[in-house]
Amino acid sequence: MALEQEGVQLSEAQIAVHWKEEEYYFPPAKFIAQANMADPSVFERFSEQNFPECFREYAELLTWDKYWHTTLDSSKPPFWRWFVGGKLNACYNCVDRHLQKYRNKAAFIWVPEPEEEDTKVITYQELYIRVNEFAALLQDVCGLKAGDRITLHMPMVPELPVAMLACARLGVIHSVVFGGFSGQACGERMVDSGSHILVTIDAYSRNGELLDHKLKADQAVEYVEKNGVKVDKVLVWRRYPGKYSSPTPMVDGRDVFVDELLKNYRGASVAPVSMPAEAPLFLMYTSGTTARPKGCQHSTGGYLSYVAGTSKYYQDIHPEDTYWCFADIGWITGHSYIVYGPLALAATSVMYEGVPLYPDPGRPWRIAERLNVNIFHTAPTTIRMLRKAGPDEPSKYNYHFKHMTTVGEPIEPEVWRWYYHVVGKGEAVIVDTWWQTENGGFLGSTLPALHPMKPGSCGPGVLGVYPVIYDELGNEIPKGSGRAGNICIRNPWPGIMQTVWGQPERFVQIYYAKYCRNPQSTDWRDWPYFAGDGAVQAADGYFRILGRVDDVINVAGHRLGTKELESAALTVEEVAEAAAVPVMDELRGRAVEMYIALKPGYSPSQEIEDKVRGAIETIIGKIARPKNVWIVPDMPKTRSGKIMRRVVAGISNFMSPGDITTLANPEIVETIRTQVQAAKLSRGELPRQLSPQELEEIGRYGQVG
Ligand code: WTA
Repeated sequence: MALEQEGVQLSEAQIAVHWKEEEYYFPPAKFIAQANMADPSVFERFSEQNFPECFREYAELLTWDKYWHTTLDSSKPPFWRWFVGGKLNACYNCVDRHLQKYRNKAAFIWVPEPEEEDTKVITYQELYIRVNEFAALLQDVCGLKAGDRITLHMPMVPELPVAMLACARLGVIHSVVFGGFSGQACGERMVDSGSHILVTIDAYSRNGELLDHKLKADQAVEYVEKNGVKVDKVLVWRRYPGKYSSPTPMVDGRDVFVDELLKNYRGASVAPVSMPAEAPLFLMYTSGTTARPKGCQHSTGGYLSYVAGTSKYYQDIHPEDTYWCFADIGWITGHSYIVYGPLALAATSVMYEGVPLYPDPGRPWRIAERLNVNIFHTAPTTIRMLRKAGPDEPSKYNYHFKHMTTVGEPIEPEVWRWYYHVVGKGEAVIVDTWWQTENGGFLGSTLPALHPMKPGSCGPGVLGVYPVIYDELGNEIPKGSGRAGNICIRNPWPGIMQTVWGQPERFVQIYYAKYCRNPQSTDWRDWPYFAGDGAVQAADGYFRILGRVDDVINVAGHRLGTKELESAALTVEEVAEAAAVPVMDELRGRAVEMYIALKPGYSPSQEIEDKVRGAIETIIGKIARPKNVWIVPDMPKTRSGKIMRRVVAGISNFMSPGDITTLANPEIVETIRTQVQAAKLSRGELPRQLSPQELEEIGRYGQVG
């Protein structure tokens, strides 16, 4: 078979031979001269013998109402408690304390997607007023108090961080759901967190279209109420205050316009509630191995210290900088590095409502030029899109970055080099930051003034974080061996989530059970954190992240659980079995393909394919829309009846399906291959050479069941 590539049979050792070491790039002298951290003695301060006290350096960036007495309490692993005894308020730290020095400095600069609409500047003074007024409203109209949960389902508008900070002011736990998720996905998260209040907006602009967002609120409430939970209020912001832009009617008694209500709270002020360091600040849901998303619970003191510290040393944020993190606040990157980290440091944080290519691929660079952005932060997917659509655009605009970040997916070295030379104009350092929703902040990165960069590698563990790669049996894979394994973190750090909301046993099982040496031990050294990513470590100690080892597909930096996709497909009446697999995608990193087997008596049709797509969009959201839906006569299965995703994943990627001798029905493989690959070729989806990293990913793809 000429189209096939040798892939899944490659052993780890063989893959190692294919790795090409990339060259180093050194930080420019101009960057080093102004960097927040250019003193190599920091490595000594954060060395293992100074753990955990080293993290005082981060906590001391904050203003505490009461100092902590115990930096790390590890008496109940893995439920680590940081800065125990300390009290603080996150909103006070991000807003109030900056008023004296920076009252009239921009906290946020919001750029609406339509280019003819004016940019909005929100100074620290105005942010303070808006946050207080909204906090008063939450207290008064919704009766919310410390410890209650609230769900915010909003796009990239300044009202989102205003609402988050108002919650933080009251000690109310916010759960922000990414605006692109469906109403039902929002509803599921509301039920899980026990939120009775939903904050939403009527509409927002995306790719030149004003999307109806209020409809999703109605769908969310419908789902929540079907599950026996009552929704007390839906607070609806308006994209254009005073003018309702959604065709979906307001529900009397339940839905209220925030801009109207706020008139009653003009000038209101609410004292920040002094919270214990370990009080939860927010929940952020993420996908994993099972269909039910898990609510990662992040703390107030540990989390805020960690994002402030990493924003200062790794993002190199100074109050004078104009910092633009082009991500969505609905993801952890936005929480940590658009809102909490930058604001804790009194930075000016830019928020952009829209998509990268609207109205043309010069848009981000016009924003950078106009606002004098000097720190830029985004994901490989955005970089790939901009590179493809406008490879020469950056040189047409007069902006200069000192620092750039890439986050969320592995970046291909060629794409990294374009980012460096063309976007950064050869003047900016790059940090490739590896971390996860669960982690609060960075785990792996170079320290920008002190380490050289290496395209495609995130670098070593960050300050105070000591990673290790284990094989399946828990043996350490030494650096420079070229062998891949599971990257783990040997120690706790202040940004680590506290638990899975409402399911502490899952927290232990997912992240710690695999490599725990002794479940009775209260020594943190016995509790390595399992990150769920494959990685290799080069001889210089730099890590190269290969992607997820659990059943998660990273689409354009968004984590989608295969189980979630499959469960959504199974809601379609005709569907008997479903398997979700990743296909390599030039722009989005990975795309989703669904394999479907029908119940007896049904035959394949376009209609069923559309129903599967529709179900995934309704239950999860448009981001999860599969690239292809293949209705096949049967699934390749093991003798115990498990669907072998690896086999169909190989077919989707024009790879050899690997060893099929253990299948109960090996003959089906050729039938599916012919069907799928012929259809792909006719759709112009041609096979391409896969990198060793990609081959490895498909090869380890799991079983359903
Ligand atoms: C992947 C996003 C390679 C990884 C902050 C991780 C990365 C998952 C990088 C978490 C990176 C994140 N290089 N891969 N720099 N950063 N990932 O929870 O597989 O949305 O486990 O958090 O993204 O995605 P999440």
